[in-house]
Amino acid sequence: MTSITGPEQEYWENRYQENDHVWSGRPNPLLVREVAALPPGTALDLGCGEGGDAIWLARQGWRVTAVDISATALSRAAAHAADAGVDIHWEPHDLSQTFPTGQFDLVSAQFLHSVVAPPSEREKTLRRAADAVAPGGLLLVAGHAGWPTWLEHPPFEYEFPTTAQVLDTLGVRGRWEVELEEVIEREIAGPEGQPGRRADNLLRVRRPR
Ligand SMILES: C[S@@+](CC[C@H](N)C(=O)[O-])C[C@H]1O[C@@H](n2cnc3c(N)ncnc32)[C@H](O)[C@@H]1O
Repeated sequence: MTSITGPEQEYWENRYQENDHVWSGRPNPLLVREVAALPPGTALDLGCGEGGDAIWLARQGWRVTAVDISATALSRAAAHAADAGVDIHWEPHDLSQTFPTGQFDLVSAQFLHSVVAPPSEREKTLRRAADAVAPGGLLLVAGHAGWPTWLEHPPFEYEFPTTAQVLDTLGVRGRWEVELEEVIEREIAGPEGQPGRRADNLLRVRRPR
């Protein structure tokens, strides 16, 4: 495996090493909602974490390439995929530095937030994500739109981009079809079970043929 270093890698690697599992293992509901009815093709999952989305996509018949900056996340994801009996191509990348080659019918960036790197690096990654969409293919970008309501003091400064800002970043306005631009509020309990809500945003854009 290529050796990836730097503050972003350290942040995520520590986060995965501190816990046996960080995510639920289930796919993101918004991905399922948007993709379940599509005919499968090739898919690229950016920031795949422990593989919940990639495994779900592979089970739907997609030929999946999945990328993460954390070696621990990728090895956990590969183990889950082996348990599930699906074949996925895993690639380690710091996406602000290197990117998988090729074009894909679906490129999915689900909550690919850079905690340490400046926003310009995420923006660069999202532009490369758009470049990786095959003609007629889809780019799905889901992100948080703010902190959970129960969080009194955010752990760090973070400017959550709006869908309009993501569209500006991608530079696809007027050329690609914006199929969906949505803010979704969902219930999310705090660590002590406090009730709360969190807003996410979702962008679904299609590259012309
Ligand atoms: C908030 S988690 C989301 C994980 C998964 N997509 C999901 O929705 O459950 C962000 C993921 O992106 C990865 N990541 C963050 N910055 C990255 C970068 N520059 N290159 C590759 N992966 C990155 C992290 O390691 C982490 O697994």
